[in-house]
Amino acid sequence: MKIIGVACSGLDRSVSRKMIEAFLKGAAEAGHETELILIHQDLLGCTGCKGCKNKDSFCVRQDVLTHYFEALPEADAVVLGFGIYMGYPQGEAWTFMNRHYCLHKGFVGGECKIRPGKKLFCMVAQGAPDNPQYRENCDAVLRPFDGWGFDRQPILVASGRETEVKIQEAYELGKRV
Ligand SMILES: Cc1cc2nc3c(=O)[nH]c(=O)nc-3n(C[C@H](O)[C@H](O)[C@H](O)COP(=O)(O)O)c2cc1C
Repeated sequence: MKIIGVACSGLDRSVSRKMIEAFLKGAAEAGHETELILIHQDLLGCTGCKGCKNKDSFCVRQDVLTHYFEALPEADAVVLGFGIYMGYPQGEAWTFMNRHYCLHKGFVGGECKIRPGKKLFCMVAQGAPDNPQYRENCDAVLRPFDGWGFDRQPILVASGRETEVKIQEAYELGKRV
């Protein structure tokens, strides 16, 4: 399998990035091809220019996601990681999701430019204990991926003292992917 990790957090000590790295390490040890993309520095928003709608190619904006969209058609899984800010996924996660607007040809009901069934894993880091409200807020940013044919997997949440345990869980998940 080809697996792309996408890290939203720019912190050196980012917990969500460590979870992605652990997942990818496990997957690489199991023989899969992995790549990690750090999106925080160079990430542009969708401007709604609709430049993607008249072509088979992806978003016309040239940034860190240009390479992501080039790699996506051949990928079998994406591992997205983000922190929780003010109770919601951090802004980069929403921007990342919005940019997938380019995946449908034309507008509502248009054919998707990638084959369905890519697994979407999600690694979440937060200060507060795991709770239903934050999970619902995470689902809000992840649900649109269903429309692009992704096969959403249960999210893994790390908080407080459980962090190291969750990083280990991410590693085990990657090994079993
Ligand atoms: C601006 C800001 C807002 C935050 N808001 C919340 C919050 O509402 N609830 C929470 O549990 N943690 C909150 N945190 C803590 C982060 O979720 C936590 O530090 C997490 O580890 C960040 O992810 P990262 O380590 O991958 O960067 C906040 C942190 C920052 C910097």
